[in-house]
Amino acid sequence: MTSYKELGLVNTREMFKKAVAGGYAIPAFNFNTMEQMQAIVQAAVETKSPVIMQVSKGARNYANGTILRYMAQGAVEYAKELGCPEPQIALHLDHGDSFEICKECIDNGFSSVMFDGSHLPYEENIAITKQVVEYAHKYDVTVEAELGVLAGVEDEVSAAESHYTKPEEVIDFSTRSGCDSLAISIGTSHGAYKFTPEQCTRDPKTGKLVPPPLAFDILHQIEEKLPGFPIVLHGSSSVPQDEVDTINAYGGKLPDAVGIPEEQLREASKSAVCKINIDSDSRLAMTAAIRKYLAENPSHFDPRQYLKPARENMKKMYIHKIVNVLGSNDKL
Ligand code: G3H
Ligand code: 13P
Ligand code: ZN
Repeated sequence: MTSYKELGLVNTREMFKKAVAGGYAIPAFNFNTMEQMQAIVQAAVETKSPVIMQVSKGARNYANGTILRYMAQGAVEYAKELGCPEPQIALHLDHGDSFEICKECIDNGFSSVMFDGSHLPYEENIAITKQVVEYAHKYDVTVEAELGVLAGVEDEVSAAESHYTKPEEVIDFSTRSGCDSLAISIGTSHGAYKFTPEQCTRDPKTGKLVPPPLAFDILHQIEEKLPGFPIVLHGSSSVPQDEVDTINAYGGKLPDAVGIPEEQLREASKSAVCKINIDSDSRLAMTAAIRKYLAENPSHFDPRQYLKPARENMKKMYIHKIVNVLGSNDKL
């Protein structure tokens, strides 16, 4: 058993309490590589922001869970080296799909886990979330649960709406499961294609797609039912058009990629939404920089040459999110 406390990590309890009270959200950035980790830590230190570094099942398969855990420990030491004496870094399991994977992460230094039972029948979701909570709380690890299903891009708007979190269920679910935070479905979704062109309108001036608004009415109803309870938004990348344009200009093919407008995330951050998950924007920032660099420098083949601008571009994006969207800067 390795406790996250030995690694200098923190759980999400205090972070969320302060974020809800202060009207801002904590960034939850996925990471798979050293360059992402470095960019996240540099951005968090420079902006004095708490941060959640999160690891998906895919990341564990790609990079190995043990390596990622040591990278998170390294992140804490790196933050101190960069001049932040008491970094607030949580290591979180993203979309854990079984009690066993949550337990394994808790036993191996994670300070927070998500059990994602959103696709399960309601009672089963409660039962497994509760099992995870009971185990996690013995070690002061915090647990995120999910209620309501995030839309897939293939979903019709009407089908997507039927998957939204039902406000009438949130009190029963959070009380009986004992979860510390709740991910909800109000119209966000994973990936770089959050809406089909048919679900959007087009800006007549730019021709760019304008997505439909998030269901703030549902968010507000949930807040009324659970005052002050930490709410999480998955699928919150904005899919910056300049990065998409760069990728497409240098040989990529991402037609009609579209994300959640930043104004809406800014608004959500001021509410009980206190954790905002961003992965795709980091992938886009990295890919755009690498494509551009390699196209402009065809004779270069040292990965450090193209990973350096990729890391810088991700850091710029992370800082922008922290300062201009989530408002978690100057909180350390
Ligand atoms: O929620 C999904 C995250 O973007 C992680 O994606 O499973 O491809 O690592 P992944
Ligand atoms: P994006 O694909 O919008 O970045 O969402 C990431 C996420 O929700 C990770 O859990
Ligand atoms: Zn997610």
